[in-house]
Amino acid sequence: MLAFRLLLPVLMAVFLLAGLSSAFASNSPAGAQTDTPESVANARNKPTIRGGIVFRAYCVLCHGERGDGLSRGAKLYGSSSLILKPNSREYTEKIIRYGGKAVGRTDSMPNWNEELSEEQIGDVIEYLSIVTDQVARGGVVFKTNCILCHGVKGDGKGRASVFLDPPPANLTLSDKNDEYKKMIITFGGKAMGRSDRMPIWGEQLLTEQQIDDVVAYLRTILVIEAN
Ligand code: HEC
Ligand code: HEC
Repeated sequence: MLAFRLLLPVLMAVFLLAGLSSAFASNSPAGAQTDTPESVANARNKPTIRGGIVFRAYCVLCHGERGDGLSRGAKLYGSSSLILKPNSREYTEKIIRYGGKAVGRTDSMPNWNEELSEEQIGDVIEYLSIVTDQVARGGVVFKTNCILCHGVKGDGKGRASVFLDPPPANLTLSDKNDEYKKMIITFGGKAMGRSDRMPIWGEQLLTEQQIDDVVAYLRTILVIEAN
């Protein structure tokens, strides 16, 4: 499964490059603008998006996905000390770089100065500012995992959409409820009698918390069509 997790972005990239020259021009119906490389880069190249990846890799184990200290590490340190409270930027940066001791706390909070790059430290600090906000976390999940098919705006106009039939759903016009969305994200399209091109995210790729978060985010991008 780890191999798949690493492979998925690579496959997607190959997929896209292979078709760039021919498929894009001919397959896009008039008026249906798919995302451009620039719009994808703009959506992804954000400190909170990159910081979300750092947070998952280095911090979730102790601080928990919501920054509330409910984590596997809580048995060792107690969840109350692991709660990420709003602090000054200076304090936050200091404790992350140099560890708990440097700010008069315990060294149970490790120092990350040698393990993380300058950019990663800056990015994870940005992510801390949204870690307690479910919709914002869900937006990070969406932009990290879903936009190549569903599009930066969730309108189904992702860069890979031209290769998919049926096309990725326009999530801004979805008539499905949260329960249904959670099911199709967790178990994939095929399990729901839909296209198997909608991947299974629930086994190893995303946690249940991330799926709940992205469903909460999807609620916020719904547009009620004027009729
Ligand atoms: C091995 C467990 C562990 C890991 C991994 C860890 N921390 Fe901590 N962190 C702690 C503990 C324990 C404290 C509280 C220390 C104390 O109170 O003495 C803490 C405190 C903090 C605080 C201060 C919280 C507050 O408001 O009081 C911040 C900010 C923080 N950690 C950020 C991070 C970031 C960012 C990462 C990932 C790069 C991270 N931590 C990884 C254990 C961990
Ligand atoms: C490889 C392309 C691809 C990726 C990546 C992808 N999807 Fe999909 N998704 C699809 C396709 C195709 C459908 C439509 C299936 C059908 O109509 O049979 C779909 C359908 C859906 C639906 C059903 C919506 C409705 O109204 O019926 C939801 C919800 C959804 N996807 C959410 C997500 C989320 C959230 C992510 C990221 C975690 C994601 N998808 C990533 C291809 C993708």
